[in-house]
Amino acid sequence: MDPASAPNKFYVTTPIYYVNDVPHIGHAYTTVAADILARYNRLKGKSVFFLTGTDEHGQKVEKAAQEKGRTPQEHADIMVGNFRSLWEKLNISNDAFIRTTDPEHKSIVQTVLQQLRDKKEIVKRAYSGWYCTPDERFWTEKEVGDGNCPECRRPVEQIQEENYFFLMSKYRERLIRYIEDNPYYILPETRRNEVLGFLKNNELGDLCISRPKSRLSWGVPLPFDEDFVTYVWFDALLNYYSATKYLSPVHGSRFTVHGQDWWPADHHLVGKDILTTHAVYWSAMLMALEWELPKNIFAHGWWTVEGQKMSKSIGNVIDPNEMVEKYGIDAFRYFLFREVTFGLDGDFSEQSLITRINSDLANDLGNLLSRFVTMVEKYLNGEIEMPFEDTTVLNPFARECIYEVLPAIDDTHYQHWSNLRFNIILDNIWNIIRAANNHITQEEPWKLAKDHKEELKRVMFNIWNALRLTAVSLYPIMPDTSEKIWKQLGLKSLLDETKQSLPEAASEDEDVYPEIFGWNWSPGYKIKVSKGEQLFPRIDTKKKNKKEKNVEEKTEQENKPKENLITINDFAKVQLKIGKVLQAERVEGSNKLIKLQVDTGEVRQIVAGIGKSYTPDELNGKNIVVVTNLKPAKLMGVESQGMLLAATDSDGTLSILIPEKEVKQGALIR
Ligand code: MSP
Repeated sequence: MDPASAPNKFYVTTPIYYVNDVPHIGHAYTTVAADILARYNRLKGKSVFFLTGTDEHGQKVEKAAQEKGRTPQEHADIMVGNFRSLWEKLNISNDAFIRTTDPEHKSIVQTVLQQLRDKKEIVKRAYSGWYCTPDERFWTEKEVGDGNCPECRRPVEQIQEENYFFLMSKYRERLIRYIEDNPYYILPETRRNEVLGFLKNNELGDLCISRPKSRLSWGVPLPFDEDFVTYVWFDALLNYYSATKYLSPVHGSRFTVHGQDWWPADHHLVGKDILTTHAVYWSAMLMALEWELPKNIFAHGWWTVEGQKMSKSIGNVIDPNEMVEKYGIDAFRYFLFREVTFGLDGDFSEQSLITRINSDLANDLGNLLSRFVTMVEKYLNGEIEMPFEDTTVLNPFARECIYEVLPAIDDTHYQHWSNLRFNIILDNIWNIIRAANNHITQEEPWKLAKDHKEELKRVMFNIWNALRLTAVSLYPIMPDTSEKIWKQLGLKSLLDETKQSLPEAASEDEDVYPEIFGWNWSPGYKIKVSKGEQLFPRIDTKKKNKKEKNVEEKTEQENKPKENLITINDFAKVQLKIGKVLQAERVEGSNKLIKLQVDTGEVRQIVAGIGKSYTPDELNGKNIVVVTNLKPAKLMGVESQGMLLAATDSDGTLSILIPEKEVKQGALIR
């Protein structure tokens, strides 16, 4: 852990999301990661500020609003609801939600702009450059090489205008030095090297931080020039600071934490695509303001979906709402952080999610808890006795947990938490679960139950303790599941009991753990376990497949024509009569259609598609079979009041049906 971070406060942020779109798995990913860190640090007794929010200014939002016929503010007010409701659904425990349209934020942005202007860090310049309108970004000549935006590949346009610039270029050397001297500043290491490579191998330009109002009006006006608004990134990045001044939780006096400022943040979590804006732009802005830099910027990878880039046009965008409804909050949260190393790209598929649920959650964890509770109820009247002796001395399982399994979970030894190695943390938690499952297999409690009651009590206490430690360690990632395990173990409230187990006077510069994270914590009384709902019912893919198959087979059957069987009543609905062709001629413009005047007891006009097999002359005077109760229809604009019957040969030749004997026109056919 970075020694400079004050142990009693913890401030974590997510990117603020553009309101021009609905949230997807990428947004959920960062926000759940921040939630995990916030919950973990709260458990450890820290004062936590977890901030998320929305980025509401700029061209993209203005354009999206225009398309919907709304004002940008109306649009933002509607769209922000999608984020708020998803965070509730995903059990996100953010302390605040910032919107860049908050008046307080806007006023802080203006104060900061004025400060930088006064310090001559912002200057006005005539500028001509290549501009990508959709991305709202200027690019250099070199970067646009082929005339397209290097990011979105759309054409860029040459723009000439006066603008305000933040003199970022002069911070290049300082940035390089800072990143080199502080290996924890940018994580993972590969990303840190990329940023260093970018800074060392390229000239760093100055940052254009304004847009003329004539081109874009939806933004924070520059306090020193009303013809301009602030560039969306400059406004957005400042949210991390402005929120500490009007949204942060109260710990001590207003907007401070035990007398300190909330700033700087301990972690800015971002996706790899927005690392430069944070590691370079934001860092340089902070240097210019002479404010502290955040402790860490962590860039995570991107999710693909079944091997493909996630995109609206492919139609494979994963809606986290749907995943939660289908598989549950904790299974989804678990999957996101177990499947892929945080920092690398990952691939999402529902099949891998189901596999994880069945093997890790239902089989390993769910089964352990339900077997355990069943055995305690069956053999020990549901009771676990807390041992009086020092279990470490007597008990190899306890020793394995204390010396091998548990040290891998808290942060004292390996710093997996401060390095955001969530998948390793989960794997280590699963080591407790695996150890407990093995303990049951080896000790065979069902045999001990016969005549080794004391031995059985010890084994059951071991499993109880292992499950308790699983619940505590898993809480940041799967809070609901942990609480459910806690209740089944006969304990009261995970959060309260953890709080009560915090060491009294935590030293300011020491990272502390509540005693509940250790093997020797005990509620100090006999405990009664109680069976609860199954944590993770198995998803039976075979059954599901079979079910799906049945449905498919059924619909196939339903759709199959039943050998064209109709009842006699069906047939009786069709009125067939003999008709005499009085006159025949081709329909103008068609070589297929012939218009016939037919006497079926009354004269009617019939248009028939027989022109390739018959000439009009061949038809004149013939007795034919006509459907006389067909709704009239128009063929090439000519009305047909019925249809004649003809057989079609395999080569398409038609042969009209004619009665075998001479019959009077109008005769019914039955
Ligand atoms: N508004 C800016 C951030 C300003 S922060 C001061 C922004 N917003 S965004 O809504 O477009 O994107 C937010 C985050 O979503 C980014 O961190 C981005 O990396 C992430 N993701 C977008 N697609 C993603 C995946 N397919 N996978 C993982 N994360 C992805 O950028």
